[in-house]
Amino acid sequence: MNKDYIIPNEWSIVEEGFHIENITASESIFSIGNGAMGQRANFEETFSGETFQGSYVGGVYYPDKTRVGWWKNGYPEYFAKVLNAPNWIGINVNINGKALDLNTCKVSEFKRELNMKDGVLYRSFIAELPEGDQIKVNATRFLSLDFDEAGAIEYSVTPINFTGEIEFIPYIDAGIMNEDTNYDEFFWEILQIQEEKNEAYILSKTLKTEFHVCTGMQITFALNNHFITLDKEVEKSEKRIAFKYKSKVKQGDTFTIYKYGGYVQSMNHANEELISESKKVLQKAKEIGFDDLIQKQKDAWEKIWATSDIIIEGDIKAQQAIRFNIFQLNQTYSGEDSRLNIGPKGFTGEKYGGSTYWDTEAYCIPFYMSTKDKSVAKNLLLYRYNQLDRAIENAGKLGFKNGAALYPMVTMNGEECHNEWEITFEEIHRNGAMLYAIYNYVNYTGDFQYIPEFGMEVMVAISRFWQQRATFSKVKDQYVILGVTGPNEYENNVNNNFYTNYLAKWCMEYTLKNLDILQEEYHDDFKRIVAKTNLNQLELDQWKEVSEKMYFSYSKEHNVYLQQDGFLDKELIPVSNLPRSERPINQKWSWDRILRSVYIKQADVLQGLYFFENNFETKTIEEHFDFYEPFTVHESSLSPCVHSILACKIDRLEKAYELYLRTARLDLDDYNHEVHEGLHITSMAGTWLSIVQGFGGMRNFDNKLSFAPQIPKKWKSYSFKINYRGAILKMYKDHEGNKFTNESEAPVDILVHGKKVTVSPNELVTL
Ligand code: BGC
Repeated sequence: MNKDYIIPNEWSIVEEGFHIENITASESIFSIGNGAMGQRANFEETFSGETFQGSYVGGVYYPDKTRVGWWKNGYPEYFAKVLNAPNWIGINVNINGKALDLNTCKVSEFKRELNMKDGVLYRSFIAELPEGDQIKVNATRFLSLDFDEAGAIEYSVTPINFTGEIEFIPYIDAGIMNEDTNYDEFFWEILQIQEEKNEAYILSKTLKTEFHVCTGMQITFALNNHFITLDKEVEKSEKRIAFKYKSKVKQGDTFTIYKYGGYVQSMNHANEELISESKKVLQKAKEIGFDDLIQKQKDAWEKIWATSDIIIEGDIKAQQAIRFNIFQLNQTYSGEDSRLNIGPKGFTGEKYGGSTYWDTEAYCIPFYMSTKDKSVAKNLLLYRYNQLDRAIENAGKLGFKNGAALYPMVTMNGEECHNEWEITFEEIHRNGAMLYAIYNYVNYTGDFQYIPEFGMEVMVAISRFWQQRATFSKVKDQYVILGVTGPNEYENNVNNNFYTNYLAKWCMEYTLKNLDILQEEYHDDFKRIVAKTNLNQLELDQWKEVSEKMYFSYSKEHNVYLQQDGFLDKELIPVSNLPRSERPINQKWSWDRILRSVYIKQADVLQGLYFFENNFETKTIEEHFDFYEPFTVHESSLSPCVHSILACKIDRLEKAYELYLRTARLDLDDYNHEVHEGLHITSMAGTWLSIVQGFGGMRNFDNKLSFAPQIPKKWKSYSFKINYRGAILKMYKDHEGNKFTNESEAPVDILVHGKKVTVSPNELVTL
């Protein structure tokens, strides 16, 4: 991709000029979604050049048969894949009988704009067909936030140099394949194709998982803004239905097609009602009409921005980038449905199978928790609560007993569906992130009730796992955790990974502490949980013993915890000595060379210090940062943000800013040369964290909300809002100082650089 082609703009992502080499990159960057469905920014009309067609329905997946060279016991049978769903946006256009195809036309004045304020995608261009006919096209498209089963398109064509015949061929195509099928199989069975008047429906079901999805379309037309009716011809095949409408159009007249479409699916309706439900949805969209629907879309986004916007003055690229990150996170997950989650690529591509990773718990929850009502983060926790039985089954398959749970590394429905042994079996730290998320939620929202009601069952099962997974080492007279992969996936089968051991110890301690609270204050819940989980004192004693005697590898010479046993045997050559031409090492080096090297993919020890910052002195954090960051290649999108936050903590503002830029514009500037595959949605939450926890220094420990604001030199000011226990607090920072406002009814006490400040309702506090 041609880098740097996205035009800086505060509220929009803008592309000007037709760059054929950027089509697949732009299809990712300009993606739209509404939490329930999402799609890449494919053209409505035919395009014969390189394109990656993608449209996805939240929660609808296929268990694609696993593909491995050497089968290992315990591997899952399948890898879940988010399904590329029937295409409803297609509108082919014929001009005097010839297909409009930007791959074969002369294209000028091409412009795309993804307006993030309104949640609307615009595209316009002038095309000259090989025969010389020139047309002007304007296309507007969005997926409704209010009616999340519907989307709408307004597509207008104006002849510039001729009077002639224009044909619109709107269609639904259910003959869609995933880009990433393991065996080139088709994942859908078409059950029914139905049409009447200007409406068509395709009812299909996914093979094996039997999700039923009805894809619908509903068409209207206007000539120079006046609605007209047209006769149609129907073209139907096994997997596709198209309507053909022709009209004579005079030079300068504008002929517009409105297409309402979308998905209605069996997670929300009975199978036999899907077509009638789809009809209702599209009928309603048509009744409201395109202009009013768009107005509703703008209003809905205004509400989202009212509590989640971050304003950066003096750096337009930074402003555009942070809004892009916030926008995409909101397009991916709206928080109303605890069966849905956040895939690392959201609805913008197929890599990572659209499944759920520890990314949600470790990175995304703080974003949703602070910018939305607490019910949203709670739904993300409930997703895992509802999958607890599967996590227990999963641990059982690996030989763990007595209700121990191992949450999967990758999942759609709670079952593990990842099959690289070093990740599936060894990257067990993810289990700790599930518990950390419960702590984070309760700590931030103050909703302790979550623990007796739901959280404790998960906590008990996870603590059981850690106790059983630890081994007593006679030599060390301590407990060790052997054969793991830490967050740094550039090293496998290590012993005593600091992050994993620390998290394991903390999980057991935190569970024990909360069991005491339940026993004292939540009697009935305590009794119910003990009975349900068969918890006994012996087990609790074991957790205590293992957590108290957990082993950590430490270097006195460097004053740091070692990432794992033997880390210092490596050649300690910093990344700055690696020639540029050898990076990224995951593309340039053999795997065995990576494994032997000192290079770290992403925060590992530092991930632990970030989570448990309160348990360490700032000097300790500084020493670890200085030791590990120079060996870190940041080849996971999740890496720069954590380092940026810690760099702020230890007053390395320039370093923090450098790392911030890397996370914020990762996709817009295609740092990793892979944006065509889709966007890095989960790391976008890390970008938000880099501002709020990084530059803003927001922390929440022991029921105290604190800030330590700093500002990068290049920025004039920045401000963000957070929802803290129902109060909307705004923090503004410039080079003179900080200001806080409180948009709620009750005063909020905060600490700013360690000093107590009370922010009263509707009062501006200047510091
Ligand atoms: C990272 C994991 C992450 C996954 C999905 C990998 O590259 O190493 O930590 O969970 O991507 O984002």
